[in-house]
Amino acid sequence: MIAENLNSVIRNRKSIYPSQYNGQEIPLKLIQELLENANTAPTHKLTQPWLFQVFAGEKKTLLLNEIYKINKDKISDKKIKSLKEKFNNTSHIICVCMQRSDEKLIPEWEEIAATSMAVQNIWLTCTANKIGCYWSTPKYSNKLNSFLNLEKNQRCLGFIYTGLYDNLPNIKTPRLEINSKTTWNL
Ligand SMILES: Cc1cc2nc3c(=O)[nH]c(=O)nc-3n(C[C@H](O)[C@H](O)[C@H](O)COP(=O)(O)O)c2cc1C
Repeated sequence: MIAENLNSVIRNRKSIYPSQYNGQEIPLKLIQELLENANTAPTHKLTQPWLFQVFAGEKKTLLLNEIYKINKDKISDKKIKSLKEKFNNTSHIICVCMQRSDEKLIPEWEEIAATSMAVQNIWLTCTANKIGCYWSTPKYSNKLNSFLNLEKNQRCLGFIYTGLYDNLPNIKTPRLEINSKTTWNL
């Protein structure tokens, strides 16, 4: 890919939310491609800490029911309705998990960083393939260990919602000028 195309994918990446999806299913081959690209993320000491669980079709309902269960004391009817709509519109939900290696090997933040880079690879691959996605990190992510069959050294870092879309408003979340965040020492 020439640099111009890479710039275009990076600069056009944005969060696209389930309310913007058209409810159609993404071909499985593309979901596999997202995961292949995630798997090429850099990783200190090659710990490759990322783990993914993909939910689609009927299996999304299992996840949704678990979310209701976890939040049963504080979830309003309105929230239940909006979660249901969110899940219906979404094609595949990729649950992002991380496996912590021996703490003497590398600090945890490096494994969160490597997993985040894997997520970015997924996000950019979505942009390049006109797939909508965003990373959701709800508070209840850390209550899903048993449902997700996670081991003691594994944790859930949220969900990537994915879906196809028809039209999108041409709006991007603004950023501060990069020069306000850069100190040049030339
Ligand atoms: C680590 C991380 C966690 C995020 N968690 C959420 C979330 O829980 N809910 C949400 O609506 N967006 C979440 N986002 C998406 C951000 O809100 C979004 O990236 C930001 O508004 C900038 O918009 P853009 O992605 O379109 O550039 C998360 C992004 C990152 C990097």
